[in-house]
Amino acid sequence: MTWASRRPVRRTGIAAAGLSIALAIGSTVASADSSSPLTPASTVAGTTADLFWFIVAIAGLIFVGVEGALFYALVAYRQRPGREAATFHGSTRLELAWTAMPALILGIVFVLTVKTLVANQLPAGDPLEIRAVAHQWWWEFDYPAEGITAAHELHVPVGERVVVQLSSVDVIHSFWIPSLVPKLDAIPGQNRTLWFDAKQSGDYAGRCAEFCGLEHTWMTFRVVAQSPDEYAAWIKSQQQPPPTPTGLALQGQQLYQGQTCGSCHAIAGTVSNGNVGPSLTHVASRWTIGAGVLDNTPDNLSRWLADPQAFKPGSAMPNYHFSPNDVPALTAYVVTLK
Ligand code: CUA
Repeated sequence: MTWASRRPVRRTGIAAAGLSIALAIGSTVASADSSSPLTPASTVAGTTADLFWFIVAIAGLIFVGVEGALFYALVAYRQRPGREAATFHGSTRLELAWTAMPALILGIVFVLTVKTLVANQLPAGDPLEIRAVAHQWWWEFDYPAEGITAAHELHVPVGERVVVQLSSVDVIHSFWIPSLVPKLDAIPGQNRTLWFDAKQSGDYAGRCAEFCGLEHTWMTFRVVAQSPDEYAAWIKSQQQPPPTPTGLALQGQQLYQGQTCGSCHAIAGTVSNGNVGPSLTHVASRWTIGAGVLDNTPDNLSRWLADPQAFKPGSAMPNYHFSPNDVPALTAYVVTLK
């Protein structure tokens, strides 16, 4: 292949690379509405985003300055008829300048980074404490003072400082709420701490940000920042014991007990107290099944119970090969756990 015939292929390649970079940036900006470090909604995320934009601005100025100087030199000092191209070999002044300038810029970035780290320390006071425990592949949220164990959803009062004690029961995961708090690894055997204060009420997407096995993608959670009244109401609802089942739901409860579901799941006020899977005390009030893999509707719950591995292969919940009559009874029981 000659150079001439290869050139269009090259151009197409460069165009495709440029387009994919543009698309990646575009989709990042487009997704900024839901949850992104570019739409900070807490003190910590705000100072971190400020530092990010400052570094982007400096890098942009350097890029424009260096490329500008390069193109200027290429044109102004090029070889012309009757003139050799100019060379600047061995210019001590230039070499000193381009050594000192980056050192100065990196020094400024270093000082601002340390300032941001110090600003992001937990301020004094009496914050709300929540434990976040990473499991393959879902998040457990414990509210020790309130006696609540939740999953998939982290409810917090808006404007209040929340301290999250982070740990993992199996492998290394990473706790990340893009709009509220930068990533922090959850490491087995270690207790690590982060904090944030959601400044506006609303839902914020959270996820595991460290590859942790087959279903890493479906290790999502949602942060629900609520007014103090709504938060208090949620706490109260989560503290309620489950209702006593009747009819088909009662049949489902008997199946639940007969199938030893309670060795993996917990339901407050019953003998069921496992911790392999999420607590089911208020499972029907959650927005998803399987940490994001399915919307939490009775139909989806039936499909999940019939074959969890079809939706989340590798998850700890096996296919119990329930009979067709058992699934509706189990579903009827589980939907009462609001
Ligand atoms: Cu847990 Cu990725």
